[in-house]
Amino acid sequence: MKSNNIILTGFMGSGKSTIGRILAKEFNTYFLDTDVLIESFENKTISDIFKNEGEEAFRKMEKKCFEWIKNSVTNTIISVGGGLPVYVPEIKEAGRVIYLRVEFEDILKRMNDEEIKKRPLFQDVKKAKELFKKRDKIYAELADIIIENNDLNKTVRLIK
Ligand code: S3P
Repeated sequence: MKSNNIILTGFMGSGKSTIGRILAKEFNTYFLDTDVLIESFENKTISDIFKNEGEEAFRKMEKKCFEWIKNSVTNTIISVGGGLPVYVPEIKEAGRVIYLRVEFEDILKRMNDEEIKKRPLFQDVKKAKELFKKRDKIYAELADIIIENNDLNKTVRLIK
């Protein structure tokens, strides 16, 4: 299916959902978030899925969610979980991929306790930093566009 979706990728806390909601409003379309879709389909939180079923099970759910998006969703702004591009590298098949890049130190400054709490892979900051280093390259390779997401208005302008 030829889709005109915009897919926002980036590390946890890089502002995908915030930017995604603003863009959806600007383009007068819908916003989807794979984490929210998975939580509603499974009727469980991401934290509970990781705790009770493990990361591998979660990645399978993400893959299934992506397949649904690829086959059924068009003209939509989509935020994908930070790990999805790593496990679903064919992400471009569902739309134009934009990597919202934020330095790890800046992500740390922006995240509050509540936001850290709901992200199982952000519990250990040292490990999260290692994960960021590995993924930064992967996000960049898989992206059509890379935007340094330091200024919300500027990011929105660049995408529009
Ligand atoms: C994850 C990122 C999270 C969520 C899950 C795993 C990751 O999404 O999918 O906790 O592997 O980076 P956000 O990027 O929206 O925080």
